[in-house]
Amino acid sequence: MERGGGARPPSGGNPATFLVVGATGATGRLLVAELLATGATVRTLVRRAEGLPEALRRSSRVELTEGSILDLGEADLARLLQGCGAAASCLGHTLSLRGVFGPPRRLVTESVRRICGAIRASRPSSPVRFVLMNTAGNANRDLKEPRTPGERLALALIRRFVPPHADNEEASEVLRTGVGQGDPAIEWAVVRPDTLVDTSGAARWAAHASPVRSPLFDAGRTSRLNVARFMAGLMTDDATWSRWKGRMPVVYDEGWGARSAPGSGEVRERGAR
Ligand SMILES: NC(=O)c1ccc[n+]([C@@H]2O[C@H](COP(=O)([O-])OP(=O)(O)OC[C@H]3O[C@@H](n4cnc5c(N)ncnc54)[C@H](OP(=O)(O)O)[C@@H]3O)[C@@H](O)[C@H]2O)c1
Repeated sequence: MERGGGARPPSGGNPATFLVVGATGATGRLLVAELLATGATVRTLVRRAEGLPEALRRSSRVELTEGSILDLGEADLARLLQGCGAAASCLGHTLSLRGVFGPPRRLVTESVRRICGAIRASRPSSPVRFVLMNTAGNANRDLKEPRTPGERLALALIRRFVPPHADNEEASEVLRTGVGQGDPAIEWAVVRPDTLVDTSGAARWAAHASPVRSPLFDAGRTSRLNVARFMAGLMTDDATWSRWKGRMPVVYDEGWGARSAPGSGEVRERGAR
């Protein structure tokens, strides 16, 4: 069994420290657990401490700060990032009328901007990795990802009428064009899962450079656990990072990767546990 993308314990030196925002979410909490399993310390910024599972709250290696990322000043956020080798965002709009259509409409975009600003303000001696959880419905505009006229029309409507989609698109653009490639302070990867599901136990996954099936009309499946494992791998494993930094990998559970669309997706990463 090949295990290419999961978290790796540090090969030497001090245990790593990471920042996770959105840690109370269904994927964020799994990512925190994956990082803890490597021996790392995980800083979390959460609106309510009780939102984090008790097992994580009780860990001596979870540092918990209560507050909303959109209310925190840059200096406070920079302090949270001090000494972190990588940061991740699993933020997403709450799936309710208020969460989807109410403020903050640019929760993810504004958070990504703030994290990037705070990384710069923390003056890291080497680039900090920033991994953003996004969606397969968002295209990587660096690549010519094929879309049918029907997909283009449907996406234009979704972009116009479903604010979280536009938020996900704009958030990834902050990294793709705002930070770009070769920045001395920030390196980034945008992880694009397809339809999220909750599974327990082992499952294999594959990461592709681009979607290999229509996220709108032939959606695939990605377990949150696999998203967390892949994100943790990006944050902790140098080989995985050098393969995907500055890119927007699309992650599918095994068997959901390539049923219909020819696409441009090359499998570059496989993982399992
Ligand atoms: N659903 C899908 O099939 C699908 C597919 C692909 C990609 N995605 C993307 O995946 C991402 C995360 O998914 P998920 O299911 O793991 O998310 P989730 O369980 O809904 O978690 C969302 C996280 O965002 C936080 N949050 C929400 N509103 C906030 C606000 N106003 N201020 C500060 N924090 C806030 C939540 O904090 P609280 O606990 O305090 O509320 C929680 O930690 C989203 O960006 C989504 O677009 C979803």
